[in-house]
Amino acid sequence: MKSLALFATLLAVPGALSQASEYAQCGGIGWTGATACQSPFVCTELNSYYSQCLPGSPGATSSSASSTISSSSAPTPTPSGSLPRLGGVNTAGYDFSAATDGSFVDNSVSPPVSQYSHFASQGANLFRIPFAWSEMQPTLGGPLNQSFLSRYDATVNAALATGGYVIVDVHNYARLNGQIIGQGGPTNDQFASLWSLLAAHYASQSHVIFGVMNEPHDVPDLGAWATSVQAAVNAIRSAGATSQAILIPGSSWASAQALPTEAGPYLLKVTDPIGGTSKLLFDVHKYLDSDNSGTHADCVTNNVDVLTTLVNWLQQNGNRQAILSETGGGNTASCETDLGQELAYVKQAFPTLVGFSVWAAGAFDSTYILSVSPNPDGSDQPLWVDAVKPNLP
Ligand SMILES: *[C@@H]1O[C@H](CO)[C@@H](O)[C@H](O)[C@H]1NC(C)=O
Repeated sequence: MKSLALFATLLAVPGALSQASEYAQCGGIGWTGATACQSPFVCTELNSYYSQCLPGSPGATSSSASSTISSSSAPTPTPSGSLPRLGGVNTAGYDFSAATDGSFVDNSVSPPVSQYSHFASQGANLFRIPFAWSEMQPTLGGPLNQSFLSRYDATVNAALATGGYVIVDVHNYARLNGQIIGQGGPTNDQFASLWSLLAAHYASQSHVIFGVMNEPHDVPDLGAWATSVQAAVNAIRSAGATSQAILIPGSSWASAQALPTEAGPYLLKVTDPIGGTSKLLFDVHKYLDSDNSGTHADCVTNNVDVLTTLVNWLQQNGNRQAILSETGGGNTASCETDLGQELAYVKQAFPTLVGFSVWAAGAFDSTYILSVSPNPDGSDQPLWVDAVKPNLP
């Protein structure tokens, strides 16, 4: 399900300082903290939501950040054949059987297929469909569970029938039964076996995106994790799935904030057997509540600072791309504002940020705190209407 990690303490609160330090926020819509920067840094507007203390003078800075984020000098367009701007929703249900320690209980629920045409008619073109490894492949290295695969396929095909894209998401937190892949748990070969079979199955579906793993957390050896990711990437390509994008996740519950300093430097070394890195995208998550857990109804940040730092890092490390595959909030005024600003930022940061999928619709009803499932009468949740829909592609 959604991330449970706590990252709010990783960044100091800039507003507590009278003069902001390098890379700290110093302005933007809704900003109430310090607007002056410590010498020699200059408060530089990156977009209307975010100004940051950077070296150099405003408007003439040498930082690639400010020169690449402004709409007048957008990042280099992606090569042809790469992904268009994406926006949509996670449809939960099959993941109800997947626990954060990678253990499995057999209580998956099929997301209602009617939701795909419902959301697509409003402009959504991305659907992330999580599932548990144990249900898809009950025996490590063994065949796929054909009974589950036919259920999962019916869902994937309903989403693909809209013309949109589907993220096939192994929702296992880098684990199986409490043990980490390649680090005491399943071997990299066993992990590769899952991806080999899935990729062979979906090899002809160009709108399938392979989500290598949901939310790795508490992974002791990030270099070893990158090796496990490489094994999955190699397996996907060897199975004949050479046209699709692959999403590679970092640590700390796929934290968008942690990627540049934790797993990112290791994952930059992951290679694609088809050549280049334009089809290897970083998979990141970010919530907007007080502890970044996605468990509270109210939002306290629009995350534009975190995402701006991520965009700078991606552009400075080979002009790579990422996708925000989980984010979301409650159906509250604070989240309607903050999520709306976050998704507007994501949209304008294309193609560095390819798009987003909010958490969650699917087999949740409107009592779930982060629900964007349609109501039984077909009407939508306020958060969807006010924050998500205006920022769809
Ligand atoms: C195979 O899939 C079916 C349908 O989802 C499920 O009921 C069953 O438990 C799965 N088998 C195993 C061994 O997990």
